[in-house]
Amino acid sequence: MWQTNFSWLSLSYLVLTPVALLLARLYTADPPVLGGWGGWSVLLFLVPLYYARFHWDEYVKLKDAFEQTVETLMATIDAKDPHTRQHSERVAAIALDLAKAAGLDAVDREKIRLGARVHDIGKIAIPDQILFKPGKLTEEEYDRIKKHTVIGEALLKGASLFREILPIVRHHHERWDGKGYPDGLPGEKTHLWARIVALADAYEAMTAGRPYRAAKSPEEALQEVLDNAAKQFDPKLVELFHELWQKDPVWRDREVFLRKYSQQPSWLELSQPSSEGQDSKTSSKPS
Ligand SMILES: [Fe+2]
Repeated sequence: MWQTNFSWLSLSYLVLTPVALLLARLYTADPPVLGGWGGWSVLLFLVPLYYARFHWDEYVKLKDAFEQTVETLMATIDAKDPHTRQHSERVAAIALDLAKAAGLDAVDREKIRLGARVHDIGKIAIPDQILFKPGKLTEEEYDRIKKHTVIGEALLKGASLFREILPIVRHHHERWDGKGYPDGLPGEKTHLWARIVALADAYEAMTAGRPYRAAKSPEEALQEVLDNAAKQFDPKLVELFHELWQKDPVWRDREVFLRKYSQQPSWLELSQPSSEGQDSKTSSKPS
């Protein structure tokens, strides 16, 4: 607790101490650096400091507003379908590790995490009778549900904060062999971020199971991922995924992941299935 709540203090003191010493030195300089009084130098020094502080505060406010917007989106997904919320959080955990293994920097990783969390936002526009249909979907229903990718993109398009992650939302069902949707993009024509989320998404869906199909074990799901290298998935990402999987990350086993994250107040306490098998709400449809 100390480390979490107070570790920033040491960094703050470390930065502020030399500033304070410098101000004291300026104030007591003899003769004064400016205008015959040490206070002028201190005041002159404080103006840019105040300016920087003002902009930092604005940045923090903007960041908070952005995080609240994302949380609102997640709560919207949760209200429609708690299963999708759990699915999205685990996809984000897998995608984040995969992005790190792929050598992406912290800024890109954060965008991938965000994109993974909201990748299925378009499902809020899919009628419940299709989204929660317990049996297999008709071709027409399947076509309808596939539209969640373009609907999600359209929903987020208006907000500049989400602009960079639109390829994830639109293309997380594309395949390496070009047989995916909505655009049938082959290979690297699909944005790397979307390829990462597509692999994470598929593994999560396999291990989550469906009403008509039992969940695969982590080992079975891994085998399916390996079998689909260069077919459904980017083969380089599959290699990285395999290496990560062998290190036994928390996301490898769905139950372990949900157990761990149910301790966190932010999302799973809202997302726990309320009655028998929330999974039964999801059916033979894309994840
Ligand atoms: Fe999806």
